[in-house]
Amino acid sequence: MLAKVLVLNGPNLNLLGVREPDIYGSLTLDQINDRLKELADQLGVELEFFQSNHEGELVDKIHEAVTGFQGIIINPGAFTHYSLAIRDAISAVGIPCVEIHLSNIHAREEFRKQSVIAPVCIGQISGFGELSYMLGLRALADKIYEPT
Ligand code: DQA
Repeated sequence: MLAKVLVLNGPNLNLLGVREPDIYGSLTLDQINDRLKELADQLGVELEFFQSNHEGELVDKIHEAVTGFQGIIINPGAFTHYSLAIRDAISAVGIPCVEIHLSNIHAREEFRKQSVIAPVCIGQISGFGELSYMLGLRALADKIYEPT
């Protein structure tokens, strides 16, 4: 059976392509998701995509993931820096999660340097544009399929 990975994107990431392209690149979220899907096919992983501008909807989706997802990739957007609700949801479901960012959050404003989500993730990938999503998926697939 194929492993299932949930790909979550938080607030304002629906605006990718037009939102500050010098920082976030010129690809839309749909274009990034298409590329991720191609890679997922190669890796033998099934993906489900969800984007929301609302914290509670992201929390609900993380809870729902217990019904059959083996991994989560999340770009929490600005929630990265303060959403204890999303952090607690990831911790509660115990599904391996990779935090990703298009920009290098450690090289920007002070407030972006802290992630409250990273400590409950298996890792964080930040600064590689849309490649961050691909690297996150590769890392997660490796983890999921690694011999126990
Ligand atoms: C982001 C970085 C966050 O600080 C910001 O609020 C975003 C996008 C990134 O992908 O680089 O919305 O998560």
